[in-house]
Amino acid sequence: MPDMTDYSIYSERRKRLQTQIQHGIAVIPTAPEVVRNGDAQYDYRHDSHFHYLSGFAEPEAVLVLIAGKELRSILFCREKNAEREVWDGFRYGPEAAGKEFGFDAAFPIAQLDEKLVELMGNQPVLFYPMGTDAEWDARIIKLREAVKEKARSGIRAPGEIRDVREHISEMRLLKDALEQDIMRRAAKISGAAHRRAMRFTRPGQFEYEVEAEYLHEFCRHGARHPAYTSIVAGGANACTLHYVGNNARLDDGELLLIDAGCELEGYASDITRTFPVNGKFSPAQKDVYEIVLAAQAAAIAAAKPGNLWNAPHDAALRILAQGFIDLRLCQGSVESVLETESYKQFYMHRTGHWLGMDVHDVGEYKIGEQWRPLQPGMVLTVEPGCYLRPADNVPRELWNIGIRIEDDVLICANGNEVLSLDAPKTVNEIEETMHHD
Ligand code: GLY
Ligand code: MN
Ligand code: MN
Repeated sequence: MPDMTDYSIYSERRKRLQTQIQHGIAVIPTAPEVVRNGDAQYDYRHDSHFHYLSGFAEPEAVLVLIAGKELRSILFCREKNAEREVWDGFRYGPEAAGKEFGFDAAFPIAQLDEKLVELMGNQPVLFYPMGTDAEWDARIIKLREAVKEKARSGIRAPGEIRDVREHISEMRLLKDALEQDIMRRAAKISGAAHRRAMRFTRPGQFEYEVEAEYLHEFCRHGARHPAYTSIVAGGANACTLHYVGNNARLDDGELLLIDAGCELEGYASDITRTFPVNGKFSPAQKDVYEIVLAAQAAAIAAAKPGNLWNAPHDAALRILAQGFIDLRLCQGSVESVLETESYKQFYMHRTGHWLGMDVHDVGEYKIGEQWRPLQPGMVLTVEPGCYLRPADNVPRELWNIGIRIEDDVLICANGNEVLSLDAPKTVNEIEETMHHD
């Protein structure tokens, strides 16, 4: 297994990108630090594209790649600063960062504007993540104007600006062995956290108490942050798709839907489990649960190479549509439920998304007008659900049942690998895990 601290993997990625863009200059800043309030900042999170190509995690850094006859890869970063390092800790500084991370050159970030005006000269195309950050956009445009002012010295500014993200996103869509290993470990930690939450949960607790079990389990395995804000939704709260209040009491007889996954070494996991607060599914809860579980099994079976992106969604929809008919939630045939989209009252989201450095990861879902074929190395979530808000056409015993079951699936040459199997999922597994006498 390659080692994360073997930085050659990042220079190989940079070379691949340079080969793809052929001629021009790429400028890729990392993410800014963000103030939360007063002197407090949100925990710093690097930009995923930047980190994918550099392995460098400090803020105030910019990657510049030159593609053409000669390939150059340049880092701009903060200078060493003895006083600041006393307060904020170690920083590499250009000299050490350049060597350690395998750049051809590295300069202080304060020299960025001046050097970029030089570096952009006579490059035909500027590749840049236009539209991500208004301040950066304005700065880049201004620098390009500064290059134009050198026209009388025979220096040309890039005639074209293209979105560099299109190239990096397609690279990121196919996870290499190193990435697969990290994602496998991330899903394992999150799976353990779901198991722990099932063991912990009792009626009378508050949603945030269960959330705390996840955060502790993530953190004690070195995953200091969740990959997204955890959804810990008891009872009716489960029918609010992006519920993040996490502050209600959990009552006997309710279901608890938890969508929580850690970020490990820059990679996300994204797992949802739904289980009864008191450890035992009621017959009505079980009926709905088994339908969602069957829909998920069908979707996972359809997640294999050669199938199109939409195959898992279509497979899940057919099972859900039949289930909704059986529960008298929808009328007519499976075909008519799909055709009229009457299922959307109870299942209104898609069955998954790409997963990687970002929880909703990059990469196109269509090529031209066609859903793209699944390929080994892609990782996606499979997450069908069912959300039954009180309504005249919903039998009363089903009111406020909200269920989602979400796993992380790696496409392999001969099918797939479910990375999140450690999280108990069948009714039996869940009830056994929760049986805490
Ligand atoms: N946790 C976000 C999602 O499932 O897409
Ligand atoms: Mn998801
Ligand atoms: Mn999720």
